[in-house]
Amino acid sequence: MDKDFKPTGWGSLAVHGGHTQDPMYAHLVPIYASSTFVFDEAEQGMRRFSGKEDGYIYSRWGNPTFTEAEKKIAALEAFGIEKNGAPLELKGLLHASGMAAITTLMLATLKPGDKILTHYSLYGGTEELMSRVLPTLGITAIITDLRDLNKAESAIKSDKSIRMLYIETPANPTIQCVDIAALAELAKQYNLLTAADNTFATPYLQQPFSFGVDYVVHSTTKFLNGHGTAIGGILLGHDLEFMNTKVKTMAKTLGGSANPFDAFLLINGMKTLELRMERHCHNAMETANFLAIHPAVARVNYTGLAEHPDHYTAMKQMRHPGAMLSFELKKGLDGGIAFMNKLKMCVRTVSLGTCDTLLSHPASMTHYSVPKEEKERYGITDGLIRMNVGIENLQDIIADLDQALN
Ligand SMILES: Cc1ncc(COP(=O)(O)O)c(C=O)c1O
Repeated sequence: MDKDFKPTGWGSLAVHGGHTQDPMYAHLVPIYASSTFVFDEAEQGMRRFSGKEDGYIYSRWGNPTFTEAEKKIAALEAFGIEKNGAPLELKGLLHASGMAAITTLMLATLKPGDKILTHYSLYGGTEELMSRVLPTLGITAIITDLRDLNKAESAIKSDKSIRMLYIETPANPTIQCVDIAALAELAKQYNLLTAADNTFATPYLQQPFSFGVDYVVHSTTKFLNGHGTAIGGILLGHDLEFMNTKVKTMAKTLGGSANPFDAFLLINGMKTLELRMERHCHNAMETANFLAIHPAVARVNYTGLAEHPDHYTAMKQMRHPGAMLSFELKKGLDGGIAFMNKLKMCVRTVSLGTCDTLLSHPASMTHYSVPKEEKERYGITDGLIRMNVGIENLQDIIADLDQALN
């Protein structure tokens, strides 16, 4: 795509965004499977090491295949957003995993004594990073219900060490949503950094930078890759100077960099993101409607349903309510196990973001060894089933669920 062609459609950008013409005229970005890059002469090495000349040196520091993925995601997260009257520019740093990207974010922006204000529903790995790892470095987290702005503000007012507001919306596994614009505005009033995990929504459904956040992270392992073929993560920021210096140095020093093959899979997966998300979300809405009236189901948790407590928040900031839902079976633990064992097409596994419908039963799987009170605090009951609604034909998803429920 020529530099002077500005696509007006999100899907066009997902296909073409971030692409650089290969010097050997390959149609697709090659997998630059090379740990190191050569210099024409010693002076070029000096210029590259000193930052006077752009160019690759060593793949932990950057690689052309990573660059294409970074530019594509940056273009999608910034699509249609302006900063000071010009199109928003973002810098993305690809990582080996979502957790590696989150770790870089925390260590590049926080110092001992700083605190993070966050919501109680977070991906388990992020929660563990905040509760077990960061405290050993003097960085701690304060947890509150960020759906309540008064609670958020009084937490900020009561502790001057809070430096970052960290949100994950929709959150894993509860799909609770928080109001990004309202929280970003509040954070600005108190001079806090804001970071959002946009994994569940993807930039197609929600663009946190448009609501004023400073950093976005993704587990690219999920919908961005879309096919479950690679673990990966990205950290994006709009302060280009800071991203290119402190954050980049932190990323390359921690060493959680991506690898070219996974970056290639991610780039190709993202080309169909718009199509996939449309189908995922359509199927999720119809599946939620089907489950909501099924006699074996006690409750459906999907932000697309008007009765969901976060329905209004989700619809305010998301194009569609997403592909994730959960539902509670009336027959509890035994009912959950029996249901999972009867599935014929939908897949019994954890994770999300793949084309196929994935179901997990936290009480017998991910949360099997978690004490009951702790599970209940996170809304994980014995009969709860979590579902990544896939892009198969809707009638087959419903038929499989129906036969397993009956
Ligand atoms: C919302 C969210 N953020 C971050 C992560 C961590 O990503 P990864 O497994 O790629 O390290 C996950 C993983 O499931 C997640 O669901």
